[in-house]
Amino acid sequence: MSDSPSLLEVRELRVRYRGGRTAAAAAADAVRGVSFDIAAGESVGLVGESGSGKSSIARALLRLVPATGSVQFEQRELLSLRGAALRGVRERMQVVFQDPLGALDPRMTVLELIAEPLLEYRRAARAQHEQQVLAMLARVGLGPELLARFPHQLSGGQTQRVGLARALMLGPRLLICDEPVAALDVSIRSQIANLLHDMRAELGLALLFIAHDLPTVRFLCDRVMVLFRGRIVEQAPRERLFGAPQHPYTRALLAANPVPDPAQRPVAPAPAADHAATAPAEAGGGCAYRHRCPMAVARCAAEAPAIRPLGASLVSCHRAGE
Ligand SMILES: Nc1ncnc2c1ncn2[C@@H]1O[C@H](COP(=O)(O)OP(=O)(O)O)[C@@H](O)[C@H]1O
Ligand SMILES: [Mg+2]
Repeated sequence: MSDSPSLLEVRELRVRYRGGRTAAAAAADAVRGVSFDIAAGESVGLVGESGSGKSSIARALLRLVPATGSVQFEQRELLSLRGAALRGVRERMQVVFQDPLGALDPRMTVLELIAEPLLEYRRAARAQHEQQVLAMLARVGLGPELLARFPHQLSGGQTQRVGLARALMLGPRLLICDEPVAALDVSIRSQIANLLHDMRAELGLALLFIAHDLPTVRFLCDRVMVLFRGRIVEQAPRERLFGAPQHPYTRALLAANPVPDPAQRPVAPAPAADHAATAPAEAGGGCAYRHRCPMAVARCAAEAPAIRPLGASLVSCHRAGE
């Protein structure tokens, strides 16, 4: 959906966990054939209810879980890379997770944490580390007085800033954020969203931004993809997705999480219901959303809808556009 060459090209990505947590989960792939592109510098949102497979996609891109299909990053197939080649890619694709404290080694100081990627990739002489760390610390809005602190001595917002500093230290081209603001208070959340927004513009970073929080997605993302039970059911440019959602699931998601005017600050999301746990197991073909869909007809049970263009959107629904 973009004219610039793709930084990331994902095709028919599938993730299946060995021995799912429930019988239904064991039988179903967590990610069921997902395809999308991200252009250099583009910011793409990935939304969908809890259990829909958002984190599994992130983990598959980062090669943290086994996956099939194809993931081309800077024209290289990631799913078959190993060893040094994989390490090389990791410099260019970084991640920030939801739980910043859990992602940071509690025994390391802020200085050590932010310098670690430099050491790991031997990017600079030790003597230069502190200066580089200080410069990055300033960029993410933290003062030098934090250098000697340990993670438990930081606030939630400061911890997430340290996580972001670490992720940016090697100059990645793609930053994957898996619910980076979900654990933060509302005011801190918009500070981090603003920081991501500014850093992205400054560094020309591409962003895959996974979130429940639709206002933050609307603020940060050029394009949005909606995931339902391991499949992308709709993707569209930001204003189109929020202004003219095409898939009944996207409409339900927006109705449950009203998105205020984008000029306003992000607000707290409604608590997300975990429908995935209670949804009936998928039987045969048909649309996976049909059990919850107010528009479902006989065809929806008989035939899985292919993803198709509808105006500026891509949507997988037999009835969309009627
Ligand atoms: N390590 C795991 N082992 C087995 N099943 C998993 C594991 N991680 C996630 N799942 C299952 O995969 C599906 C997608 O999970 P996840 O990718 O975490 O969704 P999301 O991030 O959208 O909440 C869910 O059904 C979840 O229970
Ligand atoms: Mg998740």
